[in-house]
Amino acid sequence: MSEAPVICIDGPSGSGKGTVCEQVARRLAFHLLDSGALYRLTALAAMRANVPVDDEAGVAAVARDLHSEFEPAPEGGLRIWLNGDNVTAVIRTEEVGMNASRVAASAPVREALLERQRAFRRPPGLVADGRDMGTIVFPSAEVKVFLTASAEERARRRHKQLKEKGIGVNLRGLLEDIEARDRRDSSRAAAPLVPAVDAVRVDSTGLTVEDVTERVLGLVRERLGEVLGKGCG
Ligand code: DC
Repeated sequence: MSEAPVICIDGPSGSGKGTVCEQVARRLAFHLLDSGALYRLTALAAMRANVPVDDEAGVAAVARDLHSEFEPAPEGGLRIWLNGDNVTAVIRTEEVGMNASRVAASAPVREALLERQRAFRRPPGLVADGRDMGTIVFPSAEVKVFLTASAEERARRRHKQLKEKGIGVNLRGLLEDIEARDRRDSSRAAAPLVPAVDAVRVDSTGLTVEDVTERVLGLVRERLGEVLGKGCG
């Protein structure tokens, strides 16, 4: 194999992708690409530069010039920097998330971020978290998983997360938002959220993070066992 192996985990938000990707990357000592964070960074950088998020050429230029750094955090996950500023928490706010979803619908912005994402593929290997990892960014990936969960389960998980942060929101409203976002994400023209034809679908409804992580590691052993040797046990 000439290139480092890639494990793609795509799916909607709330499917548990982020945590599963972190666990899988940690167990395999692989690099981690949080592609959603790149769309969030682009949105934040545009906001800070006063570039309107619907100015596609302007935002694409911001995306090409992004000065970002990703550093593994001791507590797990990544620490994310923009122009030397720690933006790990800021990029998770609702405002940045909303703008990220708008810039992510732009084909020129997606194009501008393509090579930057591919540059994360380095030895010993990469776990890529996103929506189009297996379809567009790494079509030749060795392992592709499409992780889903029912809309109700995703709304419950989001509700729990927000409650833990002291934010009270209505479960029904969250469910409606999730359903609307699913429709938008899977019907948009640029890189719609669809499973790659060769992706293995995993439904995480009723499963723990550990269950899903083991399931993914099982697939990795099947496909990459001889490359990874005992490192993937
Ligand atoms: O996963 P997330 O919520 O951090 O993603 C932020 C936004 O970027 C979200 O609207 C989905 C979009 N996204 C995308 O279009 N393609 C990706 N590969 C990753 C995220």
